[in-house]
Amino acid sequence: MFSHRTNWKLERNRLTEALKAVRAAGAYVLDLTVSNPTRVGLAYDSAAILSALASPRALDYDPEPKGLMEARRAIAQYYKSQHGIQVDQERLFLTTSTSEAYSFVFGLLCNPGDELLVPKPSYPLFEFLADLQDVKLVPYLLIYDHGWQIDFHSLEKAVSERARGIVLVHPNNPTGSYVHGHEREHLSRLCQQHGLALIADEVFLDYALDDNSHRSFADDGDVLTFTLSGLSKISALPQMKVAWISASGPQSQLSEATAHLEVIADTYLSMNAPIQWAVPALLDQRKSIQEQLFDRVRTNLAELDRQLAAQRACQRLIVEGGWYAVLRVPVTQTDEELAVELLRKKSVLVHPGHFYDFPADGYLVLSLIAPEEEFAEGARRILQLLNIDC
Ligand SMILES: Cc1ncc(COP(=O)(O)O)c(C=O)c1O
Repeated sequence: MFSHRTNWKLERNRLTEALKAVRAAGAYVLDLTVSNPTRVGLAYDSAAILSALASPRALDYDPEPKGLMEARRAIAQYYKSQHGIQVDQERLFLTTSTSEAYSFVFGLLCNPGDELLVPKPSYPLFEFLADLQDVKLVPYLLIYDHGWQIDFHSLEKAVSERARGIVLVHPNNPTGSYVHGHEREHLSRLCQQHGLALIADEVFLDYALDDNSHRSFADDGDVLTFTLSGLSKISALPQMKVAWISASGPQSQLSEATAHLEVIADTYLSMNAPIQWAVPALLDQRKSIQEQLFDRVRTNLAELDRQLAAQRACQRLIVEGGWYAVLRVPVTQTDEELAVELLRKKSVLVHPGHFYDFPADGYLVLSLIAPEEEFAEGARRILQLLNIDC
């Protein structure tokens, strides 16, 4: 009765089962996978947020496929003030999530069976989006050698006749690695050579933890590029469902791409009016929220490093940005088994590396936005279980 594209394995995985059982037994679980910023004790300006949603202008219906001009102007202003780049509001398309933005771009670029190259390890979101658009994902590797980098050998090998684009996550979740300057040049050449587009997911762009400047792809002109971002991370407001696509690239391709995107967006007109009128105010919230998140992430990272310095078996991989840290742990069992053991014995929830398609066991992913005390205690229990004297 149902399409092959929805033929997913829907059973709960072992970690989810174990979590249910541990919670049912009454244990308080320290959640070091938390990615929902609305539940980690940040101080939101609730009056400003709620009043932004009550604009009388929202009583009017003005179906604008790209999204209301006022909202797009505010997003262009964000790029100017936060990243020093000019983004033409005519090339911005509002969507109700980055996921929706992905599905628009996948649908724009790919016929059934066409291929997109995706980084590995990375966030496990693309599979479902690709299935729903009948797109085939072909992984290319990120390798760790004194920091993460794109393995161009594996990327070039992954390009076939059916390839339509390369997905970049800038910075990547969970490796926290940005696409570096020399990598961008290489990517540009590769795209031009094979007629590929770039799809750059920049939801964590603002959260750089090193001192380097990490340029947005939103004003790239050499290659047809779709830059995806939104308020779920920029202002830590995932419940508002505000995201966008910024299209850029050579004029010859860009005008056609934006015309097609406009029809896709017009087919759904998925943004509601109150939220569009609220975009300027919600974007403004980033100033106080990002400051709090930087504090949180830096404090947790410093605490993790303090605890790691007192032992030898575990290490933290270099993180350039974002909300996650990757721990390299001794391989005595699979990462999933280790995560289940941590839950059962220590009531700590972490993500095993294989959730993100790490190429081997020996990795745990910790959320750096967890409340400080929970994070410190969780890290202590993890290192304790790994029999490390710290
Ligand atoms: C890299 C990345 N892209 C996109 C998303 C989803 O963003 P949205 O809430 O806008 O769909 C996430 C969520 O964590 C993410 O980590």
